[in-house]
Amino acid sequence: MTATAAENPLLEGLNVRPRPEPCTLVIFGASGDLTQRKLMPALYALAVRHLLPERFAIVGAARSDMSDEDFRERMKEAVQEFARDDFRQDVWDTLAEGMRYTTLVGSENQDEDSLGRLLDEVDRERATEGNHVYYFAVPPAAIAALVREVAARKSEKGWTRLIIEKPFGHDLDSARALNALLRERFDESEVFRIDHYLGKETVQNMLALRFANGIFEPIWNRQFIDHVQITVAESIGIEGRAAFYEHAGALRDVFQNHLLQLVALTAMEPPIDFTSESVRNEKVKVLRSLHTPGPKSVVRGQYGRGFVDGEEVPGYREEEGVSRDTGTETFVAAKLYVDNWRWADTPFYVRTGKRLARRETTIAIQFKRAPHPPFEEVAAEALRPNVLLIHVQPNEGMSLAIGAKAPGLGLSIRTVHMDFLYGSAFREGLPEAYERLILDAMLGDATLFTRADEIEEQWALVDAIAAPWQRDRPAFPNYAAGTWGPPSADDLVHRDGRSWRRH
Ligand code: BG6
Repeated sequence: MTATAAENPLLEGLNVRPRPEPCTLVIFGASGDLTQRKLMPALYALAVRHLLPERFAIVGAARSDMSDEDFRERMKEAVQEFARDDFRQDVWDTLAEGMRYTTLVGSENQDEDSLGRLLDEVDRERATEGNHVYYFAVPPAAIAALVREVAARKSEKGWTRLIIEKPFGHDLDSARALNALLRERFDESEVFRIDHYLGKETVQNMLALRFANGIFEPIWNRQFIDHVQITVAESIGIEGRAAFYEHAGALRDVFQNHLLQLVALTAMEPPIDFTSESVRNEKVKVLRSLHTPGPKSVVRGQYGRGFVDGEEVPGYREEEGVSRDTGTETFVAAKLYVDNWRWADTPFYVRTGKRLARRETTIAIQFKRAPHPPFEEVAAEALRPNVLLIHVQPNEGMSLAIGAKAPGLGLSIRTVHMDFLYGSAFREGLPEAYERLILDAMLGDATLFTRADEIEEQWALVDAIAAPWQRDRPAFPNYAAGTWGPPSADDLVHRDGRSWRRH
């Protein structure tokens, strides 16, 4: 149940969002996994909270043949299985009323421009005024042809917006080509490149933490911060996505986008305001300042057989669809430097991987030690440096580690944690990232989407990291499933006299 502001005064002023203008949302890839697991449940959550436009329609489009009825039935099952809210027939009926389906080019039953005709019909029936949001939940290879199709249909009547799923290209050249194609017919303000991490509450909270509080910004720099650690750890494997993952690997799947966006938000300068251009101008400066790490500052790994949550799981090479001698990495760690005045010489240790010990995304800001501990009787190692830990997921919240006097007649210092947990501070459950992002795109707010220049900077770095990988074949597998990655990842930080946090 959603708490009201009367029940919980902390909710006062929250969730006050304008409703988008009437529109039709076209989902390319409507029969796929993402639509079922994320998009439809997110739309349902928006419907429950009365955040969708009053005049609204959803047009599913995919290659499989399906009737409108079949589509509605599949989407209903998806909502019942994956939505965060209890199923309510009345909400569903209202949403389903505006749902249609069309088969995409490539299918035998496709007649010319059936999508165009259906959209005209839906616009008339639902009075959606020719406003169209196209969601591209399709593999990269299918995007260009669909973009051309949408461009050809773009009319003077109503607005057109494009939401494009990751991966956006597979390297710098392909991302540039896709950006160039988009620029031919669309303005940047019409293009919404998704990185769903930006839709996560805790990721946005990084902006609130840094720029809504006066106390952090003065110490948010190389003078006070020893280093930063960012971990995007998953305990799951590749979950049947071998065809995609074999070409992507951890570097392109998560490092290129989610991880680098977390680095950008942690390191960026305060924007002058919160418009999409100001925020993204600051993020892209960070991405541009990232120094390409040399081979010694990058570690890659691949999991072998092991145990996760007490269960034996296969190694990556044993997963279905994966080649037995594949060189694809399922883990990457790197030491990055942001070459600017604020961060010079402050390492950002980052890592991501599949089949790690547990699911956990954290940003740890480790401050420098107190310069002079005046307590003679306290062992130096008991005085640990302060750490501000941002729990992106799970157990969303923040925690500040400080040294405190343990009760007793002597002086003994222990590290204690001041915690803020979303679950207890706010009663409203956290929205899923896709709820926020779909709503923002309908409202035309691109702040939480990746701009063309950001994507290209991200790929430039990834291409530079991957270039030497062509030449040597690592001895894979080099970590057991259920551990924290290969030993060389530990060496990467130990060499600097530091260690990864085990939270
Ligand atoms: C996706 C990756 O972008 O993010 C997946 O393709 C990964 O491989 C997923 O599992 C992680 O997202 P989340 O929200 O579960 O942390």
